Amino acid sequence: MTKKKVVRKVVKKGQISPQHATKLHKKRRKRRRIKKSVLIGFAAIVIAIVAIFFVPRSIQNSKLKDLGYDSKTIKAIREQKITTEIIDNQYYSDYLAQEILNGTVKVEYLDLYSVREADAPLEEKDFLLYQRLLDRGYTRKQANNLFKQLKFYEITPLLVFDYQLLESGYIKDCLDHRDTNTETFFELTNDYYTEYENTLPVDDPGSLTMLINKTYYLNSDYAPANITDLSVVYAAQNVSLAQEAADAFMNWVDAGMELGVRFYAASAYRPYSYQEELYDDYIASMGQEQADALSARPGFSEHQTGLTVDLASVNSDGISEYKDTNEYTWTSTNCQDYGWILRYPEGKTQITGYAFESWHYRYVGVEIAQAVVASNLTYDEYYCLYLKPWNDPSLAYEITNNEPAPSTSAPATEDA
Ligand code: DAL
Ligand code: ZN
Repeated sequence: MTKKKVVRKVVKKGQISPQHATKLHKKRRKRRRIKKSVLIGFAAIVIAIVAIFFVPRSIQNSKLKDLGYDSKTIKAIREQKITTEIIDNQYYSDYLAQEILNGTVKVEYLDLYSVREADAPLEEKDFLLYQRLLDRGYTRKQANNLFKQLKFYEITPLLVFDYQLLESGYIKDCLDHRDTNTETFFELTNDYYTEYENTLPVDDPGSLTMLINKTYYLNSDYAPANITDLSVVYAAQNVSLAQEAADAFMNWVDAGMELGVRFYAASAYRPYSYQEELYDDYIASMGQEQADALSARPGFSEHQTGLTVDLASVNSDGISEYKDTNEYTWTSTNCQDYGWILRYPEGKTQITGYAFESWHYRYVGVEIAQAVVASNLTYDEYYCLYLKPWNDPSLAYEITNNEPAPSTSAPATEDA
């Protein structure tokens, strides 16, 4: 029975008046209307909540999808809280997606990942190089452009070269030399290193790893703390080295001698004043440009460190013929195991600033020497990438007080 009928029935029975019944009916309808609007309001709130939380999320998802990410990667993007950064900057590469999905992405380098592809994955040394480029004054945009187009060994010279305002010119030069350049041979059409222009004092004078080149110099009064003369078994007359380098050098010569490989130090420590004379002689005989390719200006010679030797073979005539000897083959292959590196290698003249010197070796200690050789970098690049500006104090040059060895007859010194 409907409610109206009930009312009518009640009225019929005379329990309430018809007026009262109508009033009652209206009241009930009103209550029903209120109930309905509460329900509608509630539904509206639920819809609003859904809209606030889920609509933007689905808009973001569709933006990520448009960029190229699949649903699994989108889930990983959300978990790693990089959604906004990726959408705002439109970052995408297959490599970036892969690293996000693997959970191996370094979130502070999303821009760098986005310019790389999976066939050129980023290694720890790349992140370090990237940071050093920023230290060197390059913007992230420039660094990304370099990492997008160039290989590691094409970028490292920039740590030694002048700052390039337009990195695009440098990139083009590298790409133009892709057919001939390798990790061990690097040549470009243009020059990017203005030698002796922005010179700086050596970062850490006296340390075993100090870098001396056409930028970093030693003061005229710098002399190694402990210079010791080498005996004529190991050297020409009046040739000396800093003690630690002297010990390492004698070990090296002894090891070679056991194999019938016989070389000696034709020149080693040279004070500032002596380098000055030498450089002036070079200029007098061949002019400044050629002199600068072969001889360091005073203050800029590694020989002033007492950690450098010029080698000659006992079987041939002086340093200039060293390249063609068995001794060169042996020393250039094994030097790192005795703590030495070939400082001015063939094919890296534009980076070191010097023509290939088969005879010129620098002592840096076994650990660093092996790392430098394994890196295929010049010492200039290696130092700027790995050693500057956090020098390891444990590598500091140790001062000892050994007596110089007595000098006897030996070949005259030869300096380069
Ligand atoms: N020949 C080398 C570069 C020097 O003079 O130190
Ligand atoms: Zn030399």
